[in-house]
Amino acid sequence: MKFFIDTAEISEIRELAATGLVDGVTTNPTLIAKSGRDFIEVIGEICSIVKGPVSAEVTALDAEGMIKEGEKLAKIADNVAIKVPLTLDGLKACRHFSDKGILVNVTLCFSAAQAILAAKAGAAFISPFVGRLDDIGQDGLQLIEDIVTIYENYPQFTTEVLVASIRNPMHIVDSAKMGAHVATIPPSVLKTLVKHPLTDKGIDAFMADWAKTGQKIVA
Ligand code: E4P
Repeated sequence: MKFFIDTAEISEIRELAATGLVDGVTTNPTLIAKSGRDFIEVIGEICSIVKGPVSAEVTALDAEGMIKEGEKLAKIADNVAIKVPLTLDGLKACRHFSDKGILVNVTLCFSAAQAILAAKAGAAFISPFVGRLDDIGQDGLQLIEDIVTIYENYPQFTTEVLVASIRNPMHIVDSAKMGAHVATIPPSVLKTLVKHPLTDKGIDAFMADWAKTGQKIVA
């Protein structure tokens, strides 16, 4: 499973990229607003830190406008993935970019039917939002299972399932069991993945016993 991080904060991206665990980055207009940075500038900076796909979202609502914006965003760096919303106009823009070999991330997916359309439009990634579905009492992970199953039935679909709106480690573990290709993870959730009380307890015990030996591995 590939790990993208869901943030536009440069310091967090640098910190996590240094672990070697980050395969890409996703942003959205809310995350850009939160960063307080210029959109074009911050996407350029992210692309220079992370070599994998960096999603930059269009804000026009009509296909023509999305194409104009996407063309500008695609020029920022070779690893920009154009993010478009799951509407008919978004799908039209998706087809335009995928025909040109430009990666497209179709976002705001809340149904399996929408995911089929994104695959047919040549999306590189489909972003189903699990947390937002859970928030309204629907089963976000069930949607992931449905999309993975459907895509597996059609090997000509090359779209990768990018699990989005992740709120906790189980969203990632369960999506991985289902075979989702990518998880885009908020930095705070990524940091909780490594945590286990028995790991901390084990380290404490080993360190205490090691100190008794009086030895050093490197003098
Ligand atoms: C994905 O690309 C989106 O940016 C993100 O996962 C949305 O998550 P949220 O529901 O926490 O805003």
